[in-house]
Amino acid sequence: MRIVWCITGAGHLLRESFDVMKKLKEEIEDLKVTTLVSRAGEEVVKMYGLFEELKYISNGNYYEELILEREHPYSSPITGRLSLGKYDFLICSPTSGNTVAKVVNGIADSLVTNAIAQAGKGFVKSLIVPVDYKEGIVITKLPYSIDRKRCKLCLKCIKVCPNEAIIKRDNFVEIYLPKCVGCGNCKEICQYNAIIEGKEIKMRVRKIDAENTKKLKELEDVIVLKHPYEILDFFGIYK
Ligand SMILES: Cc1cc2nc3c(=O)[nH]c(=O)nc-3n(C[C@H](O)[C@H](O)[C@H](O)COP(=O)(O)O)c2cc1C
Repeated sequence: MRIVWCITGAGHLLRESFDVMKKLKEEIEDLKVTTLVSRAGEEVVKMYGLFEELKYISNGNYYEELILEREHPYSSPITGRLSLGKYDFLICSPTSGNTVAKVVNGIADSLVTNAIAQAGKGFVKSLIVPVDYKEGIVITKLPYSIDRKRCKLCLKCIKVCPNEAIIKRDNFVEIYLPKCVGCGNCKEICQYNAIIEGKEIKMRVRKIDAENTKKLKELEDVIVLKHPYEILDFFGIYK
């Protein structure tokens, strides 16, 4: 079986999406996964410390390529495989509000939106997990952050960061997330427990995003799922 797995720049349901990718790899014999990652997706996956896991999912062999939008920015020729019907399924999880909005308006100007459009043209079924499923509140987890009340400005975190992602301001330090690779060195070294991984926050799902998700259900060959774990149900796999 061949699958294209698209990852967009959403932190919500990201870890769960990775769990499902790995489970599918374990459970489906001869599964080949080509992973497509939007520019924002690449940044966000790194912030949550998950980038290395992608190399296990897509090891670089034929039909198991890891395609980063940053390196394939314009016409995304790889998506031609979808219009030619070379894959059994496209899965997009997590799918940002931005990508859903584009897709329901027929826009195909990025790696992931183009892949979804080409899947539709090539009669390939798309399983899409939008992070904004219905209006209301969701609880989601942030990448690494610093609790300024606990921080004593010892600056050890700055020294152990491999990417110069922690910056000293006048009287506080902050994590510059676009450079963060989620390695956790800062959390490990901090004796004041000031580095927080995965702080939970409440987020509103806006009406416009929920409405776009409804429109998604009307697209040809698109199946909209509420949670990545429903992908396992679709393939008859138990968690
Ligand atoms: C840490 C982080 C987490 C984010 N989480 C979400 C999210 O859960 N849902 C969402 O719609 N956008 C989220 N965003 C914003 C998207 O990355 C942004 O809208 C981006 O333009 C999406 O581009 P893409 O759809 O091409 O991947 C997040 C951004 C950051 C930095």
